[in-house]
Amino acid sequence: MEISIGIIGLGSMAKAIVSPLLERGEYHPQNVLGIVGSSSSIAPALNDLPKKVKVVSSEDSLSGEVWKAPVKLLAVKPQQFSKIRESVSSVKSKDQLSKPLLISVLAGITLKSLKKAFPGHTCVRAVPNTPSLVGQGLTGLAWEDDISLDQKEVVRKIFEPISEIFELQEQQLDSFLALTSSGPAYISLVVEAMADGAVAAGLPRHLSNQLAHKTLSGTASLLREKSLHPAELKDMVASPAGTTISALRHLELAGLRSALIEAVVLAAQKSRQLAEEVSS
Ligand SMILES: NC(=O)c1ccc[n+]([C@@H]2O[C@H](COP(=O)([O-])OP(=O)(O)OC[C@H]3O[C@@H](n4cnc5c(N)ncnc54)[C@H](OP(=O)(O)O)[C@@H]3O)[C@@H](O)[C@H]2O)c1
Repeated sequence: MEISIGIIGLGSMAKAIVSPLLERGEYHPQNVLGIVGSSSSIAPALNDLPKKVKVVSSEDSLSGEVWKAPVKLLAVKPQQFSKIRESVSSVKSKDQLSKPLLISVLAGITLKSLKKAFPGHTCVRAVPNTPSLVGQGLTGLAWEDDISLDQKEVVRKIFEPISEIFELQEQQLDSFLALTSSGPAYISLVVEAMADGAVAAGLPRHLSNQLAHKTLSGTASLLREKSLHPAELKDMVASPAGTTISALRHLELAGLRSALIEAVVLAAQKSRQLAEEVSS
């Protein structure tokens, strides 16, 4: 089997990345090899993918073939990293001299750790966020200094279908992740709380949830399409002595703004701390 791209950990994120690449014909299904942890995950991994994609479990003898691929996408959970590290050391081969690409989406695994674990590879860190699952993500990329222009293009082509790409210094990835990867959780909390407020004020639950979602998506579209600064939009909505400014007064007193600022800073610190733990 000739493998163009090998996917170590064909779970939800890897599928979100690979599906559009197959649809666009960037890779042929028969040249894609995906690895999952257990054989019971093969059928769900294959679901929605073209039949010719080959998926095997990490226990299958064919799984070692993945290390021959010129492009590898590492998308297991960070806790599984050490197991993968062990499996690669047992398949050292001359192929590794031709500098294949290893693209990792694992949070907190540094380029230094990747280089140590996958000698002979050009390593790339990619930080996609959950909206990538619906093609509206953001991906931060950091790569080794010696990556070639062609390799950069290969990496960009992999993430472009699902996300807007930001090329960053590796030390910026923790802050990028704290905003963009954790951000959907912060926003979801706010949307949920706003819907709860509407229920408390007397609207039915289903309607409150629906209205909270639509308020979020409409506001995001308005900010984007009119290129508004958030403060401009806030001022547009808050009329003198009106309902919105009363609510905003309360939010300021309750510390919403400072809570969000500190949340992003804490998430960035935690990301750095996790990276130190893994690499120590
Ligand atoms: N989902 C997101 O929105 C998102 C966003 C940004 C970054 N990420 C990153 O993406 C990575 C994957 O996340 P996910 O949500 O896609 O997780 P997931 O759905 O659980 O996928 C992980 C995959 O790895 C497989 N796996 C486990 N052990 C393995 C082994 N030894 N060899 C090969 N494959 C193995 C799992 O198979 P089994 O199920 O059989 O164990 C599963 O298919 C994580 O590191 C996460 O931080 C995810």
